[in-house]
Amino acid sequence: MDIIIRESYDEMSVYAAAVIANFVKSKPNCVLGLATGSTPIGTYKELIRMHKEEGLDFSQVKTFNLDEYLGIGIDLSTPYEKDQSYARFMYEELFKHINIKEENIHIPDGKTKEPEKFCKWYEDEIKKAGGIDLQLLGIGGDGHWAFNEPGSSLGSRTRVQALTKQTLDDNYESFYKKAGIKREDMPHFAITMGIGTILEARNILMIANGKKKAGVVAKCLEGPVTSQITASAIQLHSGGITVVLDKDAASELKNLDHYIHVEKMKRSMGMLI
Ligand code: PGA
Repeated sequence: MDIIIRESYDEMSVYAAAVIANFVKSKPNCVLGLATGSTPIGTYKELIRMHKEEGLDFSQVKTFNLDEYLGIGIDLSTPYEKDQSYARFMYEELFKHINIKEENIHIPDGKTKEPEKFCKWYEDEIKKAGGIDLQLLGIGGDGHWAFNEPGSSLGSRTRVQALTKQTLDDNYESFYKKAGIKREDMPHFAITMGIGTILEARNILMIANGKKKAGVVAKCLEGPVTSQITASAIQLHSGGITVVLDKDAASELKNLDHYIHVEKMKRSMGMLI
């Protein structure tokens, strides 16, 4: 596991984008797993910059998003802040700025009338695409990956999940409040890839920033593997893992000095970008 600590949110974002860009350059038809939330916005900004200024090419890239609220879907006829679907987020924060093909984008359909059938289809589509090469992830305040709330099995697959009070509070503060949407009108359920689905990605890239995430990041990376902190499943992953943190999010790690030392050593040996 490579744990990379950067001074600021911007530096964290630039590093994470460089990891993604390396995948895209070395395998132009790679399959990316993508995430929503406030954390990846800077990473997507940097990818857009690389596309516009350096010609980073997404024309053959396929993407699968982690999750979507149940009951809502993209509606381009309403202003962005009123449309809280994750499909709209991805369109505004990344897809409309790069040369990805619409048919290569996959996001769970929050409007599906048959969620169970849809979830199975989504899993099948990931398999048909050859599996996910690199999965980008944030971490929720309650330790979740995607919407795998505490108590989700570490073998779980794509399915419908009820959101915790903490997730509703966090997402209300970050997104819904400024849109003038009442907390009680937020969707309380979501379709989410499972932890078992995520662990099948060949590589994992997790990002986190801010003091608010320091405690949960320490539990995820250094605590026991537990379904109470579903992101702790990172410790079970068998492929390449990169965790990029800003210094605030890293501030409660017990072995911080060790991670900084390892990063320096690996960099001096040309093992890191
Ligand atoms: P955030 O959410 O990026 O808005 O903090 C992260 C997550 O819930 O995974």
